[in-house]
Amino acid sequence: MIIAVDGPAASGKGTIAKALAKHYGLPHLDTGLLYRAVGVSVTRAGGDPGDAADALRACEFDPALLDDPALKTEAAGKAASIVSAHPQVREALLQRQRDFAMQDGGAVLDGRDIGTVIAPDASAKLFVTATSQVRAQRRFRELDAMGQGVTYDSVLADILARDERDSGRSAAPLRQAEDADLLDTSDLSIDAAVQRAISLVEARTADR
Ligand code: DC
Repeated sequence: MIIAVDGPAASGKGTIAKALAKHYGLPHLDTGLLYRAVGVSVTRAGGDPGDAADALRACEFDPALLDDPALKTEAAGKAASIVSAHPQVREALLQRQRDFAMQDGGAVLDGRDIGTVIAPDASAKLFVTATSQVRAQRRFRELDAMGQGVTYDSVLADILARDERDSGRSAAPLRQAEDADLLDTSDLSIDAAVQRAISLVEARTADR
């Protein structure tokens, strides 16, 4: 069973994907981390995330980087969003994500293009969303708790810019797959959102 979980920044897709993986006993891949690693790697090498050649070179990052807390910052998210618009970067990271999806027994992947590009034949696809205000509020609380000295307004502006970049790019833009179920988490607690996600997956996989 392959479960694809896509959606914009801070929609709750990561939390839902992890909970689904635990519920079904499946391995989970947060594909945003791969793009974050490329973004951080370019910046550390003194390169420009907007430059396709610099970004492509950074795709050979050290796997240990995936555990680096620096990947969690807003700066890393922004760099990730910029490098992810280069088709060459998406191509370089594609096989690794497909191999993860196709492993025996199945997997849960979350990202922006899992249901549309990485695993178009997934058993269940969720498109997780929430209003930009709710997403900004959630992200603000997280960053504030990490002591990152941010304001709600700056976080909202970053979220809107990221939505625009991720949805507006020509290479595998963020969009809901035709056969994906929409899960709006704006008014749901984490537990309620996870329960809803499980019900949607059950409904999709019941007749298989
Ligand atoms: O999910 P995240 O915030 O960690 O993702 C960071 C950026 O990486 C996101 O703004 C766009 C890019 N990304 C992508 O283009 N495709 C994916 N499957 C996952 C992330």
